[in-house]
Amino acid sequence: MTTTIVFASEKGGVGKTTSAVNLAVALVIGGYKVLLLDMDPQGSVRLSFGAKSPVHKGTLELLMEPATPLSELLAPPDGTGLDAIYANINTLSDQWKLDESGMDPFTLNSRLTKEAQDYDFIVIDAPASTGMLAVNSLTAAQLVVLPLQCESLAIKSLKRFLVAFRDLQGRVNPDLRIAGILLTMYDRSLEVHRRICREVYDALYDSVFETIIPKSKEITESSAVGQAVLTYGINSVGATAYIRLAKEILDRFGLRPQMPT
Ligand SMILES: Nc1ncnc2c1ncn2[C@@H]1O[C@H](COP(=O)(O)OP(=O)(O)O)[C@@H](O)[C@H]1O
Ligand SMILES: [Mg+2]
Repeated sequence: MTTTIVFASEKGGVGKTTSAVNLAVALVIGGYKVLLLDMDPQGSVRLSFGAKSPVHKGTLELLMEPATPLSELLAPPDGTGLDAIYANINTLSDQWKLDESGMDPFTLNSRLTKEAQDYDFIVIDAPASTGMLAVNSLTAAQLVVLPLQCESLAIKSLKRFLVAFRDLQGRVNPDLRIAGILLTMYDRSLEVHRRICREVYDALYDSVFETIIPKSKEITESSAVGQAVLTYGINSVGATAYIRLAKEILDRFGLRPQMPT
């Protein structure tokens, strides 16, 4: 059975792409077959892997051309063992084409249900918005991870997202569950981070992952050279945190527990 996990948040810059990419690579290291899908027009997943050539086919065709086989849309990033579909919604005209294509909230869901069921996991990087691409991402998934940076407006923004999430769950995807809130870019030397982290656990205890992603030099470096931190420095604190996150998700939801120790 395929489990689809989406990384979503109303805010940008909170570690969605970094987390989606590294969770996907961690699951591959654990022996799973994984598809990583970039639904964010910013196309950051491709940049995370340092891919230089333009994307000929990707998310646009996935959503608009059901006759194009999924296999033609795959762009496996070097050295990762992953399958990826990169975003190629580059211009306003691409966006208009999408808007006029008759896409509904279930377009992605039906495509993945028909053609991507031989993957153990599909990991989706959703855009920081509440538009049709975000709705399609959430409608196609069973689990949503909510990355949260420890900063002052974080909880307020998260609470607003949770209201929108309940609405969407009620209207279009009753099966969608919150996998967890993921604290990212945590710097324990900062009092403000420690305080916000405590507030998040106090307010939303059960929904917060035990794994916290630390602010990490290796994550900054790996991103600068276009690599996942898991391939850049497998023993770094950043890589270790993403392996722990993968294990926590597998344990929490009773998914096959085969990760390396
Ligand atoms: N744990 C971390 N430590 C250091 N830098 C990070 C970490 N997580 C993300 N970043 C950096 O922060 C920036 C925003 O992260 P990104 O994953 O692109 O956020 P989003 O997808 O939510 O916009 C990127 O430059 C990324 O390399
Ligand atoms: Mg992003």
